[in-house]
Amino acid sequence: MDEIVTQINRLRKERNAIILAHNYQRPEVQDIADYVGDSLGLAQTAAKSKAEIIVFCGVHFMAETAAIICPDKTVLMPDPHAGCPLANMITLRELRKLKAAHSGAVVVTYINSSAEIKAESDYCCTSSNAVKVVQSIPPGQEIIFIPDQHLGSYVQSQAGRPMILWRGYCPTHQRILSDDIKKKKSEHPKALVVVHPECSSDVVALADKVASTSGILKYCRESPAYAEASAGRPVREFIIGTEIGLLHRLQKENSDKVFMAGSDLADCPNMKLNTLEKILWSLEDMVYAVKVAPEIAAGALKSINRMLTIV
Ligand code: 13P
Repeated sequence: MDEIVTQINRLRKERNAIILAHNYQRPEVQDIADYVGDSLGLAQTAAKSKAEIIVFCGVHFMAETAAIICPDKTVLMPDPHAGCPLANMITLRELRKLKAAHSGAVVVTYINSSAEIKAESDYCCTSSNAVKVVQSIPPGQEIIFIPDQHLGSYVQSQAGRPMILWRGYCPTHQRILSDDIKKKKSEHPKALVVVHPECSSDVVALADKVASTSGILKYCRESPAYAEASAGRPVREFIIGTEIGLLHRLQKENSDKVFMAGSDLADCPNMKLNTLEKILWSLEDMVYAVKVAPEIAAGALKSINRMLTIV
């Protein structure tokens, strides 16, 4: 493993490359990345990077967003099969039909979507800014929110804006059940419940905090640890309702706190396709480049930029 890391380090320097990793990546991938973050942070880091090559360790829509924002850079995915099932839950045909049924409505699209869907949308958003984006839309304006029904219903409740929702969902977050959280909470009554808004509304209803992956990290970091006298050791327990890859950073950055997965089944197989070996091959062979047709990229960039100016 050390030999692989040494070779990755040599190549990333030689090629003027950076490695970006999402918070759900394997621990060893997070540990060698130049930046680890949520969807918004990754997009912003790609935009301001001076590197010529971005090795993007996440899923396809994330690398595609970086390729749209940075047309002058080469964006590589270590494994081209790392897709996002949620992003595939609405087709262009379905979106056009929905727009035709609600003419005059604006479309707010979660970043977990394809470039062609973003190009057909008015606004892009991430889990960290979806409420703000929706709140920026003039009252009375009809809004279609795609493709995640759970994020959509959370945003509806926070922004106080009824929206037309699409029925998409993240299969990994769908595996976190309210019964799992209730059971963990009964075993650890003092634990705080912190969840991602891709969880279903009955899970969100049990949460002390709902946030993006980087928002979860911030909340847990800023929650003070306290002494549990009876246990005789410092304890601050958190039940985390999101993909289990986030637990690596949480535990690494907060050694005085204890983190439990809301469900051990919340393990995204696509996120875990990226490995150190594949990162090395990616840098050696300059594969797999993510390309977006210029006219689609131009349309998608408009909705992404609208989001970036709001936040
Ligand atoms: P974040 O932007 O909160 O990291 O979420 C990305 C994602 O795909 C969650 O499943």
